[in-house]
Amino acid sequence: MQLSNTLHLLAILCIVNPFLVNAAKSFAGSNLYYAAGLFPADRTTLLDGLQSAGMKVLRVWLDGQSQSQKGTNIDPFPDLEPNQICNGDESCYNDTVLERLDDFMIDAHSHGIKLLISMHSFNALQAGDVYGKEYGTGFFYEQDFPQQAFDKRLQHILNHVHTTLGKPWKELNDYIFAFEAENEAMIGKGQQYIIDHQYWQCDRATTIKNELNGNTGILVTTGGESWMDESVQPDWLTCPALDVISIHAYGVGDYSTSSIKTYVSRAQAAGKKLIMEEWGACYFNTENNNCPTGTALSTSTRNNNIKTWASQISAAGLAWLYWQVIPNADPHFGSDFEIGIGDASWSTLQAAAEAALNADGAFDFSEWLL
Ligand SMILES: *[C@@H]1O[C@H](CO)[C@@H](O)[C@H](O)[C@H]1NC(C)=O
Repeated sequence: MQLSNTLHLLAILCIVNPFLVNAAKSFAGSNLYYAAGLFPADRTTLLDGLQSAGMKVLRVWLDGQSQSQKGTNIDPFPDLEPNQICNGDESCYNDTVLERLDDFMIDAHSHGIKLLISMHSFNALQAGDVYGKEYGTGFFYEQDFPQQAFDKRLQHILNHVHTTLGKPWKELNDYIFAFEAENEAMIGKGQQYIIDHQYWQCDRATTIKNELNGNTGILVTTGGESWMDESVQPDWLTCPALDVISIHAYGVGDYSTSSIKTYVSRAQAAGKKLIMEEWGACYFNTENNNCPTGTALSTSTRNNNIKTWASQISAAGLAWLYWQVIPNADPHFGSDFEIGIGDASWSTLQAAAEAALNADGAFDFSEWLL
């Protein structure tokens, strides 16, 4: 097409749709809670695969792992606070997990992928890590000391000096997409408890934001809850320290475009971003949000679910991270949303992720992506 024709066409497009030229685009990514435990060959497989799908963000956790997960072999590593609550005692933290992720993020960056770092998990708390052992799943969110000690953990992580880059994580804008205090904080406590303790999330986000010290090149997120409505709490929409409210949703109703759009409007009105930080398509023929075991869906049914739900989420303008892409064939253990690179559903997820890059986004993440 000749230049004059191109300009003519652009001019028409601008008149027809004034939002087209500057429209933000969406994106997709994935989760891998045990990324710090991958052996090098699996890391390469994973990152090559995510890149081939155009995925831009990988969400990782810090919980120590000692055994294979989802059929993936694990190079063991301990919890950041393996023996006791460190409360700022620098010699007490075991930085192995942070150092593993130092290497991982360099490799991810070379694949065009940034990390979303979840700095603790309700799962670890409930399983009786150093915080869970001493405070359980209630006092942890309620008493002053565990909140203060947990803030020191967050500060320790944010100030971890990258082994080879020589800069603290809180300055690594090119490698880190976002920080969040905890995966699914309070999730086992019920929706009313979360409603009653919204401050915990905002207080932790404020600690993170203060530590970022004016650096807006890394986002602060919430870490999600069980479903859409529980994930989007009103006080989080007005918390100055939170940039992004993370949605975790596995119920099919939460994948409806029109339903998602009501939350998009609320977030836009509040000046916050939303992201579908966890979603997945169950391998079994159970309810999608209750996927422990069962009869396998036919490949075509599951692929159709993946394609349909991803496109519905994208159509509402939400960027999304799949739970989870794994580097090995999925062994179909319990809670089976995973898709192994090369599995029967991989090319479907790949296509859905590529399509997200061309979908209009309700929130502009472009300056935080590679
Ligand atoms: C951290 O944990 C690793 C693995 O268990 C161990 O080899 C190392 O000595 C620990 N480092 C510190 C400083 O405790």
